[in-house]
Amino acid sequence: MVQRRLRVICVFFGICLTVFFICHYYHQILIFGTIFYWKLNLRELKQTASYLHCSTINKTRVDELRNELNRFTQHHEPVLVQDNIHVDYKYYGNYFKESFTIDKSKRELLAKTFPPNKTMFSKCSIVGNGGILKNSSCGADIDSSDFVLRMNVPQIQGFVKDAGRKTNFTSVACSSASLTEDGVPCGAFHAAKFIKGLKSFNGYIMWVPSSWTHAPSMKSAFIFAEILRKNSNLQLVLSNAIYSQKFSEYWHINGKILSSGMTMVSIAISFCEEIHLYGFWPFPFSASGNSLPMHYSEDLPWTSYRQTHDYPAEFDLLTKLHRQGVLKLHVENCH
Ligand SMILES: *[C@@H]1O[C@H](CO)[C@@H](O)[C@H](O)[C@H]1NC(C)=O
Ligand SMILES: *[C@@H]1O[C@H](CO)[C@@H](O)[C@H](O)[C@H]1NC(C)=O
Ligand SMILES: *[C@@H]1O[C@H](CO)[C@@H](O)[C@H](O)[C@H]1NC(C)=O
Ligand SMILES: *[C@@H]1O[C@H](CO)[C@@H](O)[C@H](O)[C@H]1NC(C)=O
Repeated sequence: MVQRRLRVICVFFGICLTVFFICHYYHQILIFGTIFYWKLNLRELKQTASYLHCSTINKTRVDELRNELNRFTQHHEPVLVQDNIHVDYKYYGNYFKESFTIDKSKRELLAKTFPPNKTMFSKCSIVGNGGILKNSSCGADIDSSDFVLRMNVPQIQGFVKDAGRKTNFTSVACSSASLTEDGVPCGAFHAAKFIKGLKSFNGYIMWVPSSWTHAPSMKSAFIFAEILRKNSNLQLVLSNAIYSQKFSEYWHINGKILSSGMTMVSIAISFCEEIHLYGFWPFPFSASGNSLPMHYSEDLPWTSYRQTHDYPAEFDLLTKLHRQGVLKLHVENCH
């Protein structure tokens, strides 16, 4: 009798321990599962890469898509700047979790227009932070574009050979590490340190609300704007939540939040004739089976890969756009 009870208790604790382990390490288990999965599916990665190798940009399709998107988003623009903002209108940040208004003095802090001079650029490059860029020698290709968009204020120094130096537009998410002070995203960020890091950047900087905290971020956006105005020539634009929502609806990226990469693509479609993507490859292995770091510029383990965005689904979408000739994904080394 006692023995049976003991056995029941043991089994009970065993189950509890297993449940605890699975819950606690759920994220890691998922990541290792994913890595293992891709190791087994190298053939598929190889096929994807060889298929991406050939393509031409179809300018008719790009124009067509630009018009379709304009209609679908009811002419909402991807970013908020002085000449499309209505003073005291209600705007949204943080994926509709917060709303805000912009008065005259706040409006002054933003860029006047976007795109610059309302012109179209013939060749744009969007540079993702993926480890696939490491040792790629794609820097010169990237710098040969007319307009270069980057994400999350990446480090430029030391990575010019692979990732280029030109920067005309970069996003900064208030959840990004560079703005996080004492683990408080969008809190009292270390302005001086951050501004120093912005020295390598030109043109525009886009504020993207935090995608994984519930902290209000638009108040910080305008504090950031004032610091920028005093310390740099960078022009601030705000990502437009209504546009992002419409864009996600258009592409059926539901549930998960649109990543900055997809946001950049949507922005570029509005003013670029030819869009090239570098550093987009959300897999821990290259097509030739070499293991890749998560980012080209830092040694983050894949276990810190965020599940907020559905990168593989977005990558599918990008390959679809590649197939249509809307953009060109570069996933091989440049020569
Ligand atoms: C380019 O896109 C247009 C519009 O979608 C399409 O009609 C045409 O067949 C495409 N051309 C090529 C070469 O794929
Ligand atoms: C925009 O136009 C002004 C005046 O025409 C010119 O000086 C400037 O270089 C242009 N900027 C770009 C990015 O084309
Ligand atoms: C893009 O940035 C580079 C410097 O990084 C600058 O020389 C170039 O004029 C900029 N292009 C535009 C269109 O603003
Ligand atoms: C890049 O090259 C260095 C030196 O040749 C090598 O040690 C490293 O493993 C390479 N990294 C990747 C991701 O290919």
